[in-house]
Amino acid sequence: MKKKISISLLPGDGIGKEISLEAKKVFTWLTKKLKMEIDLYEDLVGGAAIDAYGTPLSDQTLNKIKKTDAIILGAVGGPKWENLDFEQRPERGLLRIRKELDLFANFRPAIVFDSLVQSSTLKTEVIEGLDILIIRELTGGIYFGQPRGIEKIDHNNSKGINTLVYTTHEIRRIAEVAFETAMSRSKRLCSVDKANVLESTELWRKIMIETSEKFPEVKLSHMYVDNAAMQLVRNPKQFDVIVTTNMFGDILSDCASMLTGSLGMLPSASIGISKDGRKNAMYEPVHGSAPDIAGKGIANPLAMILSIGMMFKYSFSNENIFKIINNSVNSILEKGFRTKDISSDKTIEISTSEMGDKVLEELNNEKI
Ligand code: IPM
Ligand code: MG
Repeated sequence: MKKKISISLLPGDGIGKEISLEAKKVFTWLTKKLKMEIDLYEDLVGGAAIDAYGTPLSDQTLNKIKKTDAIILGAVGGPKWENLDFEQRPERGLLRIRKELDLFANFRPAIVFDSLVQSSTLKTEVIEGLDILIIRELTGGIYFGQPRGIEKIDHNNSKGINTLVYTTHEIRRIAEVAFETAMSRSKRLCSVDKANVLESTELWRKIMIETSEKFPEVKLSHMYVDNAAMQLVRNPKQFDVIVTTNMFGDILSDCASMLTGSLGMLPSASIGISKDGRKNAMYEPVHGSAPDIAGKGIANPLAMILSIGMMFKYSFSNENIFKIINNSVNSILEKGFRTKDISSDKTIEISTSEMGDKVLEELNNEKI
């Protein structure tokens, strides 16, 4: 690992700000206890950036964060900005970072912590021990395809247009990431498409099969997205690594997150190569800005803190920090401490900032 690392912290909106304060505690701990040199650059994105700079992601912010080694983002969006023009909405800031930094590979693990088995709405036997990984293509497909927009047909009729397009190059690079990841896990990969209806995903399937020739040890299977949604709820443990398109991945990852019963627990990583050949990465909790609970001190900061763990694993190849952060979170849960979203009458409810403090206590107990 480099001696000095630079990290951009973009809290964003809603609970993004509160959980970022807890993330900062962890960065301070790493600096003080592990003597790491972390250069933390903090800036605005989403609605907060609209209010301060008039745009959800300023060019200046983009240029600064591009130069740092990794980015961690809280969440963007909220009712205040919902009526703005499409291009001006908070979400555009997030999508612009993904596109400009070419963060094409999005890793969304869905892991059930033993002590949270009861939080899921599904039966214990269906989800106990679940550990699956959705790899979502993040910079192509219908999210970015051209043409797009809303056009007038005549005075009382318009059409809304989005284009689902994938090139061989885009599919091949996500396929390679997915096969490599499958090699490091159980060597099972399920590619999710809608090849019976959509040509873009017929090509997707063809390239997945072609790529599989380079990875003979990986058992590749294919599933249509409607069936995959059903199978995820029926018997999620049949999956290990899933690879899919941008929009299917958006939908299936929300579905998978609820298998764990705790959206507030799930981190994610988005990795890519920028135009100048640098490895880029952004880490985010899977949950959103949750405006309904913002400012109340009850948000769960664990997904954000686990995202720091992923950052150390993927950006800095430091498995040790990844493990101690995960172990600390596990210990807190085992001891019965919970934020409101995952609490029950048998657990001890604590606030966002108390949870951050608990993480530090546990980190101090870890053998490093
Ligand atoms: C996600 C979110 C985003 C997406 C939104 C906020 C643009 O739902 O990261 O899953 O659709 O990709
Ligand atoms: Mg989503």
